Amino acid sequence: MKKKIGIVTGGGDCPGLNAVIRAVAKAAAHRGWETLGILGGYAGLLEPRQYRVLDYQALSGLLTRGGTILGTANRGKFSAKTGHGEGRRLPKELLDDTRAGMDALGLSALVSVGGDGSLSIALQMHEHGIPIVGVPKTIDNDLHGTLMTFGFDSAVACATDALDRLHTTAESHQRVMVLEVMGRYAGWIALYAGVAGGADVILIPEIPFTYDSICAKVKEREAQGKHFTLVVAAEGAREKGGGFVTSGAAEANREAHLGGIGAVVTAELTKRTGKETRNCVLGHLQRGGSPTTFDRALCSMFGATAVELVAAGEFGRMPAFTGAGVVGVPISEAVGRLKTVPPEGNLARTARALGISLGD
Ligand code: F6P
Repeated sequence: MKKKIGIVTGGGDCPGLNAVIRAVAKAAAHRGWETLGILGGYAGLLEPRQYRVLDYQALSGLLTRGGTILGTANRGKFSAKTGHGEGRRLPKELLDDTRAGMDALGLSALVSVGGDGSLSIALQMHEHGIPIVGVPKTIDNDLHGTLMTFGFDSAVACATDALDRLHTTAESHQRVMVLEVMGRYAGWIALYAGVAGGADVILIPEIPFTYDSICAKVKEREAQGKHFTLVVAAEGAREKGGGFVTSGAAEANREAHLGGIGAVVTAELTKRTGKETRNCVLGHLQRGGSPTTFDRALCSMFGATAVELVAAGEFGRMPAFTGAGVVGVPISEAVGRLKTVPPEGNLARTARALGISLGD
């Protein structure tokens, strides 16, 4: 009988999910295996099981298509994140039911594509004896074990494009423009896009800011004849001594919903600088659309390597990007704690060297 594997996508979507699905199904087909796409996250393995066969026809056009054709979920029975890196153990019965679902579908292995939440579930499944490999996904780039997750480069490209656009309008109107970007408790998107898009101030969760420092930058620019300033604020950025700005109370078993820091900074800068200041929240635009060239290549390498890991019986592992290539690493290396921006790391030092204020 033909070997059959399953693939499931979990957590927030991002550009490149479909490119990974395609790569896994193609690499599996190359070995003569069949791939089933599990619908709606891990829950698709439970009764009534929901899946679709990923044959060659099903893969047409997937390389460039945003979202995930399998659907995804970051709530429900399989949500494992409760906030800031803390995890929740899944009940044994749920893990047993998952295993039973795989058996019923004839799956000899599962490929789980996800971020910290979905991969910490994958790790628990592995510890429960379920043959599973992961693929590291998140626009936030906050997973350990891999230099980059897929989706990150595409989100940064979107934020950089937004900065390019804000630049011209800021200059025309001599305004301060604040761009709020995603990233949860990590400032990777803000810092990469801020450097790439020529921001003047970059606020990240890892470096709490003061308004005095931001205003000093605006003033310095005014003195140099630059009557506009571009500020990038990661959604997790916070004032020194202050808390995270959230846009609503966290639901049970879910992360707090960050958002709103852009508006807070905008109001305060208007007051303190007397300059017209406008806020732009990029939001889910960062998660939609086609993956960048880099992400397409990374997704293809991740998918092909995931299938190699399955073939070698190296379960509990995931492909990781080292900079030189993609290798398999234990999922346990990636989850449980967040990979945040080192305040004295290369990119932060680069920003400072270029005269960008990090708000401290
Ligand atoms: O983890 C990815 C991410 O886009 C974060 O950057 C953001 O805080 C969060 O998901 C938003 O989640 P939701 O789509 O559930 O609002």
